[in-house]
Amino acid sequence: MSTETEYKPGLEDVPAAKSAVSFLDGKKAVLEYRGVPVEVLAKESNFEEVSWLLIKGDLPTQKQLAEYDAELRARRAIHFRLKDLIKCMPADGHPMDALHAGVSALGMFYPCPTVFDAAKNWDATVRLVAALPTLVAAFARTRRGAEIIDPRDDLDHAANFYYMLFGKEPSAATRKVLDACLILHAEHTMNASTFTARVTGSTLANPYHVIGAAVGSLSGPLHGGANEEALRQFEEIGGPANVKPWLDAKRTADPKYKVMGIGHRVYKVKDARATVLQEIAEHVFAETARPKNYETALELERVCAGVYGPKGIYPNVDFYSGVVYQALGIPTDVFTPIFAIARVAGWLAHWNEQLVGNRIFRPEQISTGKTGVKYVPLEQRP
Ligand code: ACO
Repeated sequence: MSTETEYKPGLEDVPAAKSAVSFLDGKKAVLEYRGVPVEVLAKESNFEEVSWLLIKGDLPTQKQLAEYDAELRARRAIHFRLKDLIKCMPADGHPMDALHAGVSALGMFYPCPTVFDAAKNWDATVRLVAALPTLVAAFARTRRGAEIIDPRDDLDHAANFYYMLFGKEPSAATRKVLDACLILHAEHTMNASTFTARVTGSTLANPYHVIGAAVGSLSGPLHGGANEEALRQFEEIGGPANVKPWLDAKRTADPKYKVMGIGHRVYKVKDARATVLQEIAEHVFAETARPKNYETALELERVCAGVYGPKGIYPNVDFYSGVVYQALGIPTDVFTPIFAIARVAGWLAHWNEQLVGNRIFRPEQISTGKTGVKYVPLEQRP
């Protein structure tokens, strides 16, 4: 029986697992994947290498990376019936719903019914990393009546995703920005969706259910969905001059009003990923005029630092990702699916870790309901 004093709403500060996948120091804005700083990876590496690092535990050798990359390229394509299924999805459905359904269906076309077969687990791991972009791009196109574009195996992961979305290859700069965004979103210790993946994995559910459950968890506006909400917020504000009156009005109407894209359970300073994303945004906007939403975001960060800074509430990764994706021409509701395309690497790394010495998650509760209630037959109730 648990006691009130043991109860921590939202499991704040409660360790849910031992993990070697990543390290986060929220007071110093340090984030490392398997010991390597994320800023270095965003600049020097690519998503293929980072996903291997997360899942396997060490940077790959040249041979390992070449073989893994070839495996990824070979598993990008999806079954033609899965494409038909995506074509039948409602065009006004959310791309995260389509991804959720698509991941489940992927598990039916390429089954991994048991988690005790290492070769099948690896096949599913590679397929999930490789095919999530295909699922996302396919729905993003069919919902607007465009043909699905099959993946190309002569492009890298980020470039191929862009190609499947838009039917053209990205410039070198765009490819690098997209790749860096994938790296920055690939893993982040025991966040809600990763915890979801571990809980689901602990039942020995198949990897497609593990990732499907995590996709659902990521979709919420307090988690991955915040990047969409942050961009809508910048649009609602309408420009840097409106920031202060907008925030004053929101806080007057609701003193607990939550500004989207700021605040974090662990970070008490600015999220390291937000800083790198901001650098990327500056790079993207160097050759063009800065978009109004970016100017608004900069001013909102400044104003919020005065209001919320003393409480340790600063921009998180979702604050600047939306303005970057918008500059790349990506529709707003595809932002969170891109987060999933990246985070699948972290989820799978945690799933692998969970399976080693697995014990099913089964926490306690503080019971607050009635007990011993007498059942009154329906016909005797008023
Ligand atoms: N705007 C204004 N105030 C905030 C914000 C915010 N975005 N976030 C937290 N606070 C305040 C709360 O009002 C609360 O104040 P109080 O102590 O006076 O009551 C205090 O900070 C603690 O807030 P909680 O909601 O209890 O913090 P928690 O750790 O549970 O939530 C969360 C973290 C969900 C990220 C929260 O900061 C939030 O809702 N942010 C906006 C949504 C967002 O950007 N989510 C993305 C997170 S990163 C990611 O998932 C990739």
